[in-house]
Amino acid sequence: MANTTSASRDIAATIHPYTNLKLHESEGPIVITEGDGVFVRGEDGKMYLEGLAGLWCVSLGFSERRLAEAAYRQMLKLPFYHTFAHKATDINIELSEKLLSIAPVPMSKVFFVNSGSEANDTVVKLVWYYNNALGRPRKKKIISRSKAYHGVTVASASLTGLPNNHRDFDLPIHNILHVDCPHFYRFGLPGESEEAFSSRMADSLEKRILSEDPETVAAMIAEPIMGAGGVILPPATYWEKIQAVLRKYDILLIADEVICGFCRTGEMWGTTTYAMKPDMITCAKGLSSGYLPIGAVMVSEAIYQALVKQSAKIGMFSHGFTYSGHPASSAVALETLKIYESDGILAHVRRVAPRLQAGLRRFADHPLVGEVRGIGLIGAVELVADKATKASFDPAEGVGPFLVKRGHHHGVILRAMGDAIAFCPPLIIKEAEIDLLLERFALALNDTLAMVRERGLVDSGMVPVLAK
Ligand SMILES: Cc1ncc(COP(=O)(O)O)c(C=O)c1O
Repeated sequence: MANTTSASRDIAATIHPYTNLKLHESEGPIVITEGDGVFVRGEDGKMYLEGLAGLWCVSLGFSERRLAEAAYRQMLKLPFYHTFAHKATDINIELSEKLLSIAPVPMSKVFFVNSGSEANDTVVKLVWYYNNALGRPRKKKIISRSKAYHGVTVASASLTGLPNNHRDFDLPIHNILHVDCPHFYRFGLPGESEEAFSSRMADSLEKRILSEDPETVAAMIAEPIMGAGGVILPPATYWEKIQAVLRKYDILLIADEVICGFCRTGEMWGTTTYAMKPDMITCAKGLSSGYLPIGAVMVSEAIYQALVKQSAKIGMFSHGFTYSGHPASSAVALETLKIYESDGILAHVRRVAPRLQAGLRRFADHPLVGEVRGIGLIGAVELVADKATKASFDPAEGVGPFLVKRGHHHGVILRAMGDAIAFCPPLIIKEAEIDLLLERFALALNDTLAMVRERGLVDSGMVPVLAK
C-alpha cells in the first residue's frame, strides 16, 4: 500500500471510478499531491511522467499559472452566474464567440455542459428534439460503433461501445445501435487493403441502415480517432466513405472531439485531420486543459433553427445544467484557447510529434508488440501473445495492467485499454521528456515480457529488446 494514512483513509471513504473496487481495498491508491509541467508527484515524493495527460486532458501540463490566475480573477469578480432564462455572463459570451471562431466547420451556436458525457447526452436529446421539430417522430435511432467511448451517463454510456459500460448497468437504452469498429489491424481480412476494408465498413453501415429502415435512423456519433477503445485510427478513405452513406440517407454526423480536439492530432481538430463535416461537435477535456470541468456542444445553423422552432412551439427549450457556462470554467477555457494560440501549441505539437511517433514505432519489433499506431501526440502500443497470429492474451492474465503497474515503478503513468497501452502526454511535452517517456515505457515493457515468459504465456525463446 502506497501510504498507510492517506491510503487507508481513501479506502475507507471513496468509491473510485473505473477501478476494481475489491482490488482497491487491498491495493489502495497512488496519492498524487502536486504537479509540475508533464510530471505529477506522489505523496511519497516520487515523480511520475504523466503519459496520458491525466485522463487525456491536461494539455498545458500541471503547472500553468495563467489558468490558475484566470480562475482566481473570475472567482473574485463573479464566482457564479447561470445562463438560464435569458441570463448571460460576459465571460461566457466571449468563450462562445471564441469557440465558434475556431470551429472546424461553420457552426451556429454553442451549448455548455460540464463534461464529455453531458455533451454527448445533450446531443442525444438534441437529435430527438430536432427530428420532432421537423415532424419526423420515427427518425430517432443513433448509430455508434463497437469500442467507441462517449461517456458514462445513461445515454452517453449507451453510445459507448464497450461491454463493461453496459454490463449490469442495464444498458444500452432503446434506439442506440452499434456498428463495426474500424480497426484494420484487428478486423481487416487477409490480403485486404485499408481502402477495401473501409469500403467494407461503409457497405456494412449501409446494410444496417437499410435493415433498420433509413426513416428511423437519425444520426451517427463518432470520435475522429477512437480513444478509450484503444486509440484506433480510421483506416484510409474511411471517413470519406462513411460520410457518403450518411448523406445518402439524411443522417446527421456528430463528431465527438472530446479527446481529438484542440491540437492533439497535430491539427486543431480531429474533424479537420480527416475532412469530416459534422452537424454537431462535442468537446471537453482540452477545452480547459482539464483545469476546471467544462464541455461544449456546437450545432449547425440548420439544427439551431429546428431547436428555435420547437422551443417556440413548446414555450421553452427545457434543457440545461446549473453550471452550463459556469463563469470560472469559462474563464479558464477562454484562457486555455488563448494560450494554444499565443504559445503556438499547434506548431509545437507538429514539431515534437514525430519524435513520439518514431519512438513508439521502434517498439514494433519487440516480441510482445502486435501493432504500434498513432498520430500527433496520441498513440498506442498493442501487446499480443503471438505476433504472427495477432492472438491476444487472456484478459484474466492482466498483461496490460501489469505493464502499467511496472510503469509506475519506473516513474511513468500510462493507461491500459485491455492490452493496448495508450500514450497521450501533455501537449507541452519537450523532446527530451518524450525520450524519457519512451525509456520508462521500454523498462516496463521488458518487465512485462519477463513476466509473461515466467508464467509461460509466450514462447520462452523470446528475447527482451530494450528499445531506446
Ligand atoms: C471521446 C470521449 N467522449 C466522451 C468522454 C466522456 O467525457 P467525461 O469523462 O468528461 O464525461 C470521453 C472521456 O474520456 C472521451 O474520451
